[in-house]
Amino acid sequence: MAAGQAVIGVSGATGQLGEIIVRTLRAQYPDIPVVALVRDLAKGAPLAALGAELRHFDYDEPGTLAPALAGIDKLLLISGNAVGERERQHRAVIEAAKEAGVGLIAYTSVLRASETSLPIAAEHKATEAILKEVGVPHVLLRHGWYCENYLFRIQAAVDHGTLPTCAGDGLISAAPRADFAQAAVAILTSREDQAGKVYELAGSTSFTFADLAAEATRLSGRPVTCVQLSKPAFEAALVEIGTPPFVAALIAKSDMGACDGGLFDESRTLEKLIGRPTTPMSEVMARALRP
Ligand SMILES: NC(=O)c1ccc[n+]([C@@H]2O[C@H](COP(=O)([O-])OP(=O)(O)OC[C@H]3O[C@@H](n4cnc5c(N)ncnc54)[C@H](OP(=O)(O)O)[C@@H]3O)[C@@H](O)[C@H]2O)c1
Repeated sequence: MAAGQAVIGVSGATGQLGEIIVRTLRAQYPDIPVVALVRDLAKGAPLAALGAELRHFDYDEPGTLAPALAGIDKLLLISGNAVGERERQHRAVIEAAKEAGVGLIAYTSVLRASETSLPIAAEHKATEAILKEVGVPHVLLRHGWYCENYLFRIQAAVDHGTLPTCAGDGLISAAPRADFAQAAVAILTSREDQAGKVYELAGSTSFTFADLAAEATRLSGRPVTCVQLSKPAFEAALVEIGTPPFVAALIAKSDMGACDGGLFDESRTLEKLIGRPTTPMSEVMARALRP
């Protein structure tokens, strides 16, 4: 590894966000040593082919985490996806980072974690508290929603002609994963000390569900109508079409969060970090929608 360069570790490196971050780091900063922390070494092979060092790293194997973090200066802790298990998992990683002498943890939290009513925020809030309690220097990357979260619903809306929601006219400032990834790269490679900083990250532009229906109509050439339902009716409708109840509850809570303004942000912090406006939802939809 190159002398004098801070070594960057990325957990969840084989996930959708982590993979873009490792690829971007390797492409834009080939001199910076990158350790891809993965729970499945075989899945990480494409990252090794790009020059990242692969290390086994499973949040559920606490005793193995500190040795795996040896020599890492900055750790991007990408929040896990096992909802309900994450407080315990993240604590294990943070304590291991402290033991291994990691100099900075960058944690992917949720937009306005301290006061939000968004679903699944409790584990992010708890993780932020653990970072303080354990006392590792850290920076918070508080993410708004990814544009990609909505694509399966928009495709279904094009197929069926209706886009149900309980979000009302709540504005959503989403950005694609690639833009959040670029922001993480900017923070991890910054020469400025990042410890103690909190970034509220969201899209430069915002949309409502009515906007999504109109854009889906325009792009597909098929009429798509936005249908506003009460939260219980929306959740029941999702279950009726085969959505697992746990997922239906999460989607309904997320739309209620939008209704309450929890997904709206006009700080343009993400835009400032990446040096350009975020990619608009319409562009993400145009790339993803089937004719
Ligand atoms: N803001 C938003 O809109 C939004 C949307 C979705 C998710 N998220 C959050 O942001 C995170 C990153 O998003 P994403 O789209 O990249 O999610 P993802 O594709 O599901 O990736 C999650 C990553 O976490 C890894 N992981 C899960 N459990 C682990 C464990 N026990 N030990 C080590 N690694 C573990 C997964 O490993 P494998 O590759 O081995 O499966 C995967 O690499 C998610 O995990 C979730 O917390 C935010």
